[in-house]
Amino acid sequence: MNSISFFVNGKEIIDCNVEPEWTVLWYLRNKLRLTGSKLGCGEGGCGACTILISQCIDRESGEIEHRTINACLAPLCSIDGCHVITVEGLGSVNKSNLHSVQTRLGELSASQCGFCTPGMVMSLYGTLISKDNILPTVHDIEESFDGNLCRCTGYRPILDAAKTFACDIDKIYHEKSSSLSSTTFDKCSSYIQKNSSPINKIEFPSKLLNYIPQSIHIKGSIDWYRPVSLHELLNLRHTYPGNQSKLIFGNTTVQIERKYRNIHSSRLISITHIKELQEIKRTQDSIYFGAGITFTHLKSKLIEWIDDNDHFSKALLHQLKHFASTQIRNVASLGGNIIAASPISDINPILEAAGAILELHRADQTEVRRILLSDFYLGDRRVSMADNEVLVGIHIPLPNSSKNKYFLQSYKQARRRDDSKGIVSGGFQVELEQKNLDNNQWNIVSICFSFGGMASKTIQAKHTQQQLIGLPWTKETINQTYQLLLGEMPLNELSQGGQIEYRRTLVQSFLFKFYSYVCNELRQSINDTSLLDYNRPVSHAQQTIPERPQTQKVVGKPLPHRSTYLHTTGEAVYVDDMPSLVNTLHAALVLSTKPNARIKHIDIEAASKVPGFVAFIDHRDVPGMNKPNGPLPDEEVFVTSIALCIGAIIGVVICETEHAAQIAADLVKIDYELLSPTILSIDDAINHESYFGNETCLQRGDVEKAFADAEHILEETIYIGGQEHFYMETNSCIVIPSHDDNEITIHAGVQSPLAVQQTASLVLNRDVSRIICHVKRIGGAFGGKESRALPHCLAIAVAAVKLNRPVRISLDRYTDIRITGHRHPYKIKYKVGFTKEGRLLGLDIHMWNNAGCTLDASQAVMELGMLHMGNTYQFHNIKIHGRVCKTHTSSNTAFRGFGGPQSILGCETIIEHIAAYLKCDPFSIRTLNLFQEGDITHYGQALENWNVPRILNELKISSDFIQRQINVQEFNQQNIYRKRGISLIPVKFGIGFSVQYYNQAGALVHIYQDGSVVLTHGGVELGQGLHTKMISIAAEVLGCNLDRIRISETSTDKIHNMSPTGGSVSADLNGMAIKHACEQLRQRLDTLIVDNNDNISWEKLIDKAYYARIDLCARGFYITPNMFDADFSQNKATYNYFSQGAAVTEVELDVLTGSWHLLRVDILMDVGTSLNPEIDIGQIEGGFMQGTGLYTMEELIWGDYTNNKWIEPGELFTSGPDTYKIPSFSDTPIDFRVSLLSNSFNPRAVYSSKGIGEPPFVLGISAFFALKQACMAYREQQGLSNYFTFNSPATVERLRMTCADEFTRRACSNDYENFQVKGSF
Ligand SMILES: Cc1cc2nc3c(=O)[nH]c(=O)nc-3n(C[C@H](O)[C@H](O)[C@H](O)COP(=O)(O)OP(=O)(O)OC[C@H]3O[C@@H](n4cnc5c(N)ncnc54)[C@H](O)[C@@H]3O)c2cc1C
Ligand code: FES
Ligand code: FES
Repeated sequence: MNSISFFVNGKEIIDCNVEPEWTVLWYLRNKLRLTGSKLGCGEGGCGACTILISQCIDRESGEIEHRTINACLAPLCSIDGCHVITVEGLGSVNKSNLHSVQTRLGELSASQCGFCTPGMVMSLYGTLISKDNILPTVHDIEESFDGNLCRCTGYRPILDAAKTFACDIDKIYHEKSSSLSSTTFDKCSSYIQKNSSPINKIEFPSKLLNYIPQSIHIKGSIDWYRPVSLHELLNLRHTYPGNQSKLIFGNTTVQIERKYRNIHSSRLISITHIKELQEIKRTQDSIYFGAGITFTHLKSKLIEWIDDNDHFSKALLHQLKHFASTQIRNVASLGGNIIAASPISDINPILEAAGAILELHRADQTEVRRILLSDFYLGDRRVSMADNEVLVGIHIPLPNSSKNKYFLQSYKQARRRDDSKGIVSGGFQVELEQKNLDNNQWNIVSICFSFGGMASKTIQAKHTQQQLIGLPWTKETINQTYQLLLGEMPLNELSQGGQIEYRRTLVQSFLFKFYSYVCNELRQSINDTSLLDYNRPVSHAQQTIPERPQTQKVVGKPLPHRSTYLHTTGEAVYVDDMPSLVNTLHAALVLSTKPNARIKHIDIEAASKVPGFVAFIDHRDVPGMNKPNGPLPDEEVFVTSIALCIGAIIGVVICETEHAAQIAADLVKIDYELLSPTILSIDDAINHESYFGNETCLQRGDVEKAFADAEHILEETIYIGGQEHFYMETNSCIVIPSHDDNEITIHAGVQSPLAVQQTASLVLNRDVSRIICHVKRIGGAFGGKESRALPHCLAIAVAAVKLNRPVRISLDRYTDIRITGHRHPYKIKYKVGFTKEGRLLGLDIHMWNNAGCTLDASQAVMELGMLHMGNTYQFHNIKIHGRVCKTHTSSNTAFRGFGGPQSILGCETIIEHIAAYLKCDPFSIRTLNLFQEGDITHYGQALENWNVPRILNELKISSDFIQRQINVQEFNQQNIYRKRGISLIPVKFGIGFSVQYYNQAGALVHIYQDGSVVLTHGGVELGQGLHTKMISIAAEVLGCNLDRIRISETSTDKIHNMSPTGGSVSADLNGMAIKHACEQLRQRLDTLIVDNNDNISWEKLIDKAYYARIDLCARGFYITPNMFDADFSQNKATYNYFSQGAAVTEVELDVLTGSWHLLRVDILMDVGTSLNPEIDIGQIEGGFMQGTGLYTMEELIWGDYTNNKWIEPGELFTSGPDTYKIPSFSDTPIDFRVSLLSNSFNPRAVYSSKGIGEPPFVLGISAFFALKQACMAYREQQGLSNYFTFNSPATVERLRMTCADEFTRRACSNDYENFQVKGSF
């Protein structure tokens, strides 16, 4: 058979021309034009591409198996005989047939930018139908999204919506704080009736019930074989041995090797239909797993088997709890994991510890080869397997039931709980014989320690194991073992993965946990029950919204996002979803692979031979300016001579297809001459005095005098890491040139269409008016699509103009992360003087940010940070120095908060430092120094409508802060290895652009004769709900129904000279412009209402206006009054007003590993009189979680000459979801309460509202300091009461190593008490 057949959303497809290299996602999006499934990463790490595969697995019974999978990894050929269900198959807005999953996610505001939403819909649908007619429990639902990421929502509304389907909603915590609150339980209860109706299941095509798998051979650019018997497989493997033929099962390793490690083979042999590989059996003395069982099957079998004596099932299940994701477990095979031989496999250590034996078959030998797994691994991804061998099964010997006791357990510590590969994982086994019946004393008969992440392969500590045989199972024996273990696992600064001391600590922590586990099982006393596993409860949430002003009919209603149903059905169109014009070309960037290097020679010969190659474009092709200035003041579109960083754009390859472009770009060879010095960190830059511009200074009062008067002075330096935007939609752009009047049309996902238009005009040497930039919506941006979205747009615009054909590009995640810059890392050094009561007297503070290789917005970011230094506290005497460091990393850029989050963290660190020094509660220092109404900031602005004191009081009471502080202390006294911390942090965030001319906006309103309205304004919909808010303002003023108004897109030919969308100010500016336009229209319409007869319907009124020849179009324009350019030389700046709020966060930390949970978060936020509380709460929750990510989890790591020598200098290690971890579902607070401040008015913005995008982000600081407190409690218990430096982010590594103890002492070469983990700053 050389074709494949399958069904998609009920429709049969038979295709004889498939390419084995196509993924299902590519086929769906490009061949079937089903663009609902999104490409977020291409590596199985984000879930945006989730689809459902249904398959008949037993023709006799007609049993159908449903699995959610990552379409980005699945080969198209693998779905032969399957029914594929995509988000489009569930329901559609256009067909008015939404599925209940789509409706509920929409109704409960579970989408913002919507890019992740189709994946969420499919994961939820998969969970709902996976168990025949049995609805999932809340617990099932909580775990079911472990393969989906969302960067906008903070997950709470998605979980709430999903839990409405749970069968046991009474398990959700329910206590209500007021009639204005809505809880998770309330939401679920409101769906109880609907829950009883069955979930609408997409019918399985009857034709597939009779599907009989046949052998397949497909010839394409490579060959695809699908044997259907073991005999056939062995023969094929014998005929095609070696690396050029690849066996594949789930393809989850092979696809990534192909895409990111450039490992290709000319034949793929799919082994999914070999029945012998699917066998599972258990006898008294062994378990047998076929190599082709998926982790999902494995897991359900283990659950079925598990009983008290089955140590193996328990231990393996323990490891599978946080193994990969549902989508990966549904396809990835046990055999694939074993053969992939990853040194950080989480499974191999436990299999090794269990004594697993592999069974290998080959066609030329009848005898089956059996080999111990521990002898199988030869080195980094190398195994002892002949070229023609196939792994058929895995035997696990079970301990015979003698009088001895046998224990097995596994451990894993990763950067994040869900879907994160282990940093270290361990498998531990011990057999004990009883020494003394009366004393419950035991001796070691055999023992095994196996580790992943401690060498270039899974290793066993064989020497240590031998030493322990015969020794008693006591604390003393285990204490001797730590050093022995470490001696067997030498790591050095070149060891892949870094984190040497942490890994060495984890090995000991795991052993200690294992020892305690065994003791507990033996009923021996253990130090502390907190050593045992933590069972995370089901999360719940509550939102409290004050009543809406009676005067407003529409504004202030909690409306869901206007596009939410388009998001849940996948009908919302993003740039990469747009169809191509017939003659469209595809671009791939040719990027520098070296930092700070002169380009000596570019060789495109090999690239030009790729079929479909059209051109290589570089700086010589630019018709206008290669350095266009504007938002990129010092940047070249294409490198002319020196590539400043890895990822600098040297050229662009243009081909007829995307695939060809990628291949050709990889084949462009570049000779470099490396230059020096190459500067890769802030400290390097300081040493080499490598800066952009001069030092900036902001000053108030007399700092020197304040220090002279101060009773105490403290000094300290901290570092704060950067952050990747990780918007779910990567950058995409389409440029369409036209000879008709030299017009250029650009479709791009950018926050500043004007910047695209202006810079393109300079680069292409055309009037601005000839360039039109359209933005319909963006799948998240967070500042990352302001200036950094320009370079690739400009590059392909040059190509489009030169070739006079449309050109498009969509960056893959790896490229996007590497070239588009990040939040700036900071170094902050302070000297603070204060009284013995903790009153702040003087602060002298130096801040350096790492701008990367070009200026971008780095100076502005520094300045905003300087203005936010001080947060909500009065520093009467303050001097702030800001320096922008020039390094050879990619150029850093705007990111939600724009320097504020870093400087406020610096400020709050000072407060915490003072509190620790004075041994008092940090909250008392905060309240003592709090600004009061009318106080003047250090840049001369008087505080009006100052609500922070009220917020703190209200929050203190509503969160029960004081009592919970006491509870935390008690918990910490009672528990040794788990510690809690609680922290209350306020925020004041200035709203308004600090450059005056940005504070302007335009709007255009058209009313058509039928009464429908098209609204256009200068803001871009990034997911923040801007368009939804703008529509309600228009409806409020015009007096028509909301559904008569639509916003089509943002476009430079409708609104001229628009400001970028950012700075939390877009609703203020554009809202006012819209109000202005609509008021004009309303005035005109009011002239038609005679005798006060306002009962006339909107449609009739408009009809009347049309015939009365009234202009039904109006332009609105707004400038924020009293806003001026910041002038640092005069220590002056103005904000329009301040958004304010506070959060109380409580955490629980496992000090042995650094793993932690957000137990409870209470946020009280002042949004003025909210334009849309539903959307504002979404911003608060999402912002808080993103901020928590910055301060605790997200870590950029790149190679340098000192800290990370194991990575090429300048190369970013964390360039995808595999290595860069944003918070996931299981990181959400277990109890998440958000309230909007009541009775807050803001005369300075539209309908008395306040900007909300950035301020709540900063509240993530409360998680950071709660964690710091937990560390402090442990250190104090260890006798370490000195103040300790705590850099950001508080990763699991940093937390563990800060909790200095005997384990970290053994792991560090010196000064373990003050050990600082390495970072990239
Ligand atoms: C997003 C993501 C998250 C992950 N998380 C984790 C994690 O938390 N922990 C962890 O340990 N791993 C993790 N992994 C790795 C994952 O477990 C492996 O990729 C998977 O188990 C491989 O199985 P597969 O069936 O997809 O193998 P494939 O990719 O199909 O094949 C892998 C290799 O095994 C060979 N092979 C497969 N079967 C046989 C056989 N029977 N005989 C001989 N050779 C064979 C193939 O030729 C290939 O070389 C993750 C991977 C992804 C993509
Ligand atoms: S695109 Fe498939 S998981 Fe991210
Ligand atoms: S709504 Fe989830 S990524 Fe934007």
